Amino acid sequence: MDKLVVEGGRRLEGVIEVSGAKNASLPILAATMLSKESSVIHNVPQVADVFTMVKILKSLGARVEHKGNTVEVDPRGAVNPVLPYKLVSTMRGSICFLGPLLARFGEAKVSFPGGCVIGPRPIDLHVKGIRSLGAEVKVEHGYILAKAKRLRGTRVYLGGAFGSSVLGTANVLMAACLGQGKTVIDNAACEPEVVDLGNFLKAMGARISGLGSPSIEVEGVERLNGATYKIIPDRIEAGTYVIASAMTKGDVTIKNLDLNMLGAMVDKLKDAGVVITQKNGHARVRRQRVLRPVSVTTLPYPGFPTDLQAQMMALMCIVPGISVITEKIYPDRFLHVSELNRMGSNIMLEGNSAIVSGQKRLSAAPVMASDLRASAALVLAGLVADGTTEISRVYHLDRGYEDLVGKLQNLGARIKREKE
Ligand code: EPU
Repeated sequence: MDKLVVEGGRRLEGVIEVSGAKNASLPILAATMLSKESSVIHNVPQVADVFTMVKILKSLGARVEHKGNTVEVDPRGAVNPVLPYKLVSTMRGSICFLGPLLARFGEAKVSFPGGCVIGPRPIDLHVKGIRSLGAEVKVEHGYILAKAKRLRGTRVYLGGAFGSSVLGTANVLMAACLGQGKTVIDNAACEPEVVDLGNFLKAMGARISGLGSPSIEVEGVERLNGATYKIIPDRIEAGTYVIASAMTKGDVTIKNLDLNMLGAMVDKLKDAGVVITQKNGHARVRRQRVLRPVSVTTLPYPGFPTDLQAQMMALMCIVPGISVITEKIYPDRFLHVSELNRMGSNIMLEGNSAIVSGQKRLSAAPVMASDLRASAALVLAGLVADGTTEISRVYHLDRGYEDLVGKLQNLGARIKREKE
């Protein structure tokens, strides 16, 4: 197992390019199964979750060429709509095969994804959605078994206790494309990654309107063609580097980043005193003075993203004063708190809120990565801590950040990867 070694105290400066969005790539790769023709997807990040996706596509019988950031999927030979536990257990996102397999084969057998370190991850909304499209669904021996000769259009409300569901919306949207008649998804997720999936489906010939709004309409078609498509930039990766620049008193330009995708976060950072500007499609992030603490509540898009909550907390740890960070998507997503406290932070948990008493400095310590975004927060803390921070279990970061070490080194960080 590898670890990251970060020497704190270097100011980040320079230009960086973010990779394609992981959370758009996963459902888009699954959606290639809806057609019998080949699709070519560009700007796919080289991260572990994508490698798992490619493995799954191959196990279903598709032929896949994966070179650099391009994945070509020829799904003609696929005959096997079964997704075993071995593959689903390594990546919860693989649930997004349920809709495409059911729509294309009339049946799907997908292992129940189970829990995850960031808290329970139910799939009741996925099941509700495909049931209302006419599928018969049961859970047996740890598998979701779904069957339908031909899915039929319907109106379905996809809201749960924590709001809309990103992959739930993705599953129902993909399945509805090959259904008979019109489907309306109410309380659909508005995340840019769902819009990107919808745009890919449209390139395949799907008839969809209302993307990016809480009401998506789909007019089912008989068949979908293959398509060539380029994935949008990863707003969560971008947001992580925005915060890195703010934390290190840096001056970082992020190429080809539309700040509107990060509206809620940019607003909070500006309130805190970070200088963020947009010019010619690029975003520049500078910090020239002491910041003010700000409080943050995570919400579905366009609210503050849960996937940037841990990184924002790392920033607030070094801003003198009190800030309250409330998690309304995954109330237990606070694995980074104990590790940040090991580095000298002062964070108290109170239900689904973290009360951060920020101070001027953090002190380096050996820490353990737990989930993807919690690990990113530890890297950010390491960049400003006094001394050398060692972060073990780095495979969590490999799931979602392409070349994190190389990109940070280019900005002047002292960070390296070593065998443990
Ligand atoms: N929920 C239900 N029932 C469901 C599905 C979800 O109650 O059937 C709840 C969840 O427990 C959670 C909330 O609804 O409280 C939102 O979950 P959502 O379904 O939107 O999450 P997801 O689609 O499984 C995606 C991202 C996550 C990201 C969330 C929220 C992918 C592959 N994953 O998960 O990304 O945190 O949306 O934005 O797109 C990450 O990249 O680190 C990551 C965890």
